[in-house]
Amino acid sequence: MEIHSGSQDTYEKVGTFAGEELPFSKYLRWDRMGLLAILADFYLNYSKGNILEIGAGESTVYFSWLARKYNRQAFFCDIQQSIYVNALTVDGYFQGEHIIIREGEDKTNIKSNFPNTIYIGDSTKMFKDINLPSLAVALIDGGHMYEQVKKDFWNIFPLIEETGAIFLHDLNPPNEEYHNENLCGTGFRLRKELEENKDLDVFTFVRSAINVGLTMVRVRNKNRKYFQA
Ligand SMILES: C[S@@+](CC[C@H](N)C(=O)[O-])C[C@H]1O[C@@H](n2cnc3c(N)ncnc32)[C@H](O)[C@@H]1O
Repeated sequence: MEIHSGSQDTYEKVGTFAGEELPFSKYLRWDRMGLLAILADFYLNYSKGNILEIGAGESTVYFSWLARKYNRQAFFCDIQQSIYVNALTVDGYFQGEHIIIREGEDKTNIKSNFPNTIYIGDSTKMFKDINLPSLAVALIDGGHMYEQVKKDFWNIFPLIEETGAIFLHDLNPPNEEYHNENLCGTGFRLRKELEENKDLDVFTFVRSAINVGLTMVRVRNKNRKYFQA
């Protein structure tokens, strides 16, 4: 049978999978922070700006990899020094060079043009200590109580490119026991507020990120016509 050239063309475009070009963990696949990584890749592809992560862990591996892929800077913040000390013992956890900045340190001579800037300290202090550049992607996954999540969100907001997105973890707790600060906390209250904000598009993926919600927020175009987003 003669091969249909249009179908062949479609197959070659779609069926040739990206393999290592996309941050898709062979082991975890869509589980845990896999969807975040894929969405972050999408935003970095279409937006200028850098990466910020509040709350270290699996997402750190994806973000450092994406910073290298898109030649951007990644900024990482966690209050627990040991997380970074441990991660830095593993080759490839952070891709490329890094600099460590500690809360309360004299920052006057610190160069911040490294691909990975690791801030060890409280996220609210970080926004005062570091002059962050514009961001394409940010993840809020640090302190989980409403006041902290809210502060992180509004500190990030002026930095995010109109073509970028802010992601928040844990805003969809499965039950009230999860309102504990060591589980999801009370950040879901901010999700409710953001959903009512007419300037924002807010969507929560529920079967993702350990099944406690991955919320994506983007700014609506202020000059949009009534039929545009
Ligand atoms: C749930 S974990 C982050 C998980 C990570 N994003 C992942 O993908 O595995 C939350 C982290 O936030 C950090 N944290 C808690 N409060 C913080 C704060 N006020 N500022 C910065 N980091 C904070 C904790 O030390 C902890 O490592």
